[in-house]
Amino acid sequence: MRPLAILPALCCTVALILSFLILFAGHKQSFMEDYHILTLNTSRLGESLVNTSMSSSSNPLSSLWDLIPSNIQGDVQQAAGAVTEQLGIEDFYSAHLLDYCYGQYTPTEAPNATISGKDIHKNVTGCSNQTAMFWFDPKEILDQALDKSGLPITLDDLKWPDDIQTGLNALRLVSVTSFVLYCISVALIFVALVAAIPAIFTEGRLFPCLNLLVSILAFLAIGLASSLVTALIVKGSEVINQYGNDIGVEAKKGEKFLALTWAATALVFITMIVWSVQTCCCGRRKQQKFEPAKHG
Ligand SMILES: *[C@@H]1O[C@H](CO)[C@@H](O)[C@H](O)[C@H]1NC(C)=O
Ligand SMILES: *[C@@H]1O[C@H](CO)[C@@H](O)[C@H](O)[C@H]1NC(C)=O
Ligand SMILES: *[C@@H]1O[C@H](CO)[C@@H](O)[C@H](O)[C@H]1NC(C)=O
Ligand SMILES: *[C@@H]1O[C@H](CO)[C@@H](O)[C@H](O)[C@H]1NC(C)=O
Ligand SMILES: *[C@@H]1O[C@H](CO)[C@@H](O)[C@H](O)[C@H]1NC(C)=O
Repeated sequence: MRPLAILPALCCTVALILSFLILFAGHKQSFMEDYHILTLNTSRLGESLVNTSMSSSSNPLSSLWDLIPSNIQGDVQQAAGAVTEQLGIEDFYSAHLLDYCYGQYTPTEAPNATISGKDIHKNVTGCSNQTAMFWFDPKEILDQALDKSGLPITLDDLKWPDDIQTGLNALRLVSVTSFVLYCISVALIFVALVAAIPAIFTEGRLFPCLNLLVSILAFLAIGLASSLVTALIVKGSEVINQYGNDIGVEAKKGEKFLALTWAATALVFITMIVWSVQTCCCGRRKQQKFEPAKHG
């Protein structure tokens, strides 16, 4: 028996569950929606359009303007909300590893005097189909929404900056690679869990050695996946906020997703440490058996 080997087995079990949650968070409506990678807040996207059409008479919005109730035409915020609604653009689009979800903020889009930021919740309307190697492409998503609305408004009219697209395209490979690494991590953590069980019931260095090897590989895979996803989240939200804030687009970092992936990484790290200690100690214990028990 090797009671200490129960610890890595437990760590691997939890790490395996966490990695599954990482992969499948948000894979369907309202399942762990808060564990998004990035959320694009487009609730103010119509504001620049409304602003320009209020200040100049030549605008692409004149046909749309008629659809907005006249009693809110004077209020930029409300008019902008009505415009985005007419255009079929949702309040938010959240990117997950396998798909994206969209919906409305309730009870209101932005905090005001009576409703604080904490009281605002996401009401998910739907999610895209799941695809492996999914990549979040806001331009394509918004283009589709505008096409569907049937109104003669394009992303150019909304002043959608090309720099957002350029920045996000550069991150595409990072996203796809991290997805592949998460899949490899799930497989390796599973192997590590299975390999830990015989090590609990046997003596000797063979199984700890084997486990050490597997856990090092699993740690490399999930450590690299977590690092890439962290870079993706930090860089992606930076690009979107840098170029999008002017047109009322805001990105939110997936902080809970980061916590999840680094927790899984930490568990695999603990597993690796326990096995390296076990590998070393087994050797030492054997040597002690051959030492004389007492001196004088
Ligand atoms: C719209 O105009 C108002 C006042 O003119 C300004 O405060 C606001 O920042 C503008 N919004 C956008 C998105 O340009
Ligand atoms: C969405 O973005 C707008 C404009 O950037 C901001 O005022 C609002 O608070 C944001 N809403 C949420 C729920 O984060
Ligand atoms: C805040 O927003 C809510 C929902 O739109 C609205 O009912 C409330 O009157 C607003 N409060 C203020 C002070 O504007
Ligand atoms: C969420 O949206 C649906 C329809 O889009 C609505 O029926 C439901 O009441 C909303 N939920 C909340 C909590 O606002
Ligand atoms: C999503 O999947 C359904 C059936 O699986 C299919 O009918 C639909 O066209 C797909 N939608 C997209 C956008 O690919």
